[in-house]
Amino acid sequence: MTMLETDFRRQVLKLKEERNAVILAHNYQVPEVQDVADFIGDSLALSRNAASTKADLIVFCGVHFMAETASILCPDKKVLIPDLEAGCSLASAINADELAAWKAEHPDAVVVSYVNTSAEVKALSDYCCTSANAAKVVASIPADRKVLFLPDMFLGAYVAEVTKRKNMYIWPGECHVHAGIKAEDINKMLATLKSADFLVHPECSCTSSTMYHMAKGDLAQKGHVLSTEGMMRHARSSEARQFVVATETGILYRMKKENPDKEFIPVKEDAVCKYMKKITLEKVYNSLANNVYEVKVKPDVADKARLAIDRMLAIS
Ligand code: 13P
Ligand code: SF4
Repeated sequence: MTMLETDFRRQVLKLKEERNAVILAHNYQVPEVQDVADFIGDSLALSRNAASTKADLIVFCGVHFMAETASILCPDKKVLIPDLEAGCSLASAINADELAAWKAEHPDAVVVSYVNTSAEVKALSDYCCTSANAAKVVASIPADRKVLFLPDMFLGAYVAEVTKRKNMYIWPGECHVHAGIKAEDINKMLATLKSADFLVHPECSCTSSTMYHMAKGDLAQKGHVLSTEGMMRHARSSEARQFVVATETGILYRMKKENPDKEFIPVKEDAVCKYMKKITLEKVYNSLANNVYEVKVKPDVADKARLAIDRMLAIS
């Protein structure tokens, strides 16, 4: 750590205390930011933590839709994101007008939106879901109801497969980072690491083929389709010594830190989310020192979006 970083770290910890702030960080955040966080987790765990915090101020180190979710769940708290450019290519795959038009084509359908969506899209949805509970949320909807699932097509295909649902319509969106993790990337690696556990995020384009090979029994490894926090839990509890990890590489820092005697191998070294990396320690300091950048959702939009999130939290 450079002198400057040590300084920023000290200032961040001091300001956090003085302002009764909580720092929430997603598992993909850079190490220096994870190290000052009060809580690190996946989208679901971060939403739950935001909903229950006693802090007056939430500094959200993740991407914009996550900070919006925190603001929707805690309308009387101030929510800051250290960089407004921390967006998400998946959340940008559908906007409220596009969803309204899709709903008009299927007026009788139940709408399930992945948490990686804007507040306006959530406000037009019946249920929200995350990678940790998507299958559970869809399974809770009566089998005879049509489902519109958005915006991730790989997660959607995975959920349709797990729930055996035939009446699910899936929006063709994708995350540029996970769509880039392809079956070819993993095949060679898995061929040489026979005793490793294989952890795959359901947003990856290789998810369906992995499930297919798992079902056929042609993978020597045990494959596990998990949210980022599900991966963390699995890394802790598994007896395996080696893990092949198919997701954004930011998660490897925490995996290695919490399991120093185990080995974690990324499927793709350059699976890096440039949006998550927009947040730096210096920007976290700036956020706390100068009250920037506040994330606020219009009350009427927040009220509707909260219903979809609360329905999800009640199920998971
Ligand atoms: P998790 O909820 O599994 O952490 O996923 C969020 C995300 O943005 C994955 O790219
Ligand atoms: Fe969005 Fe993909 Fe980045 Fe996750 S990894 S925040 S889905 S762009």
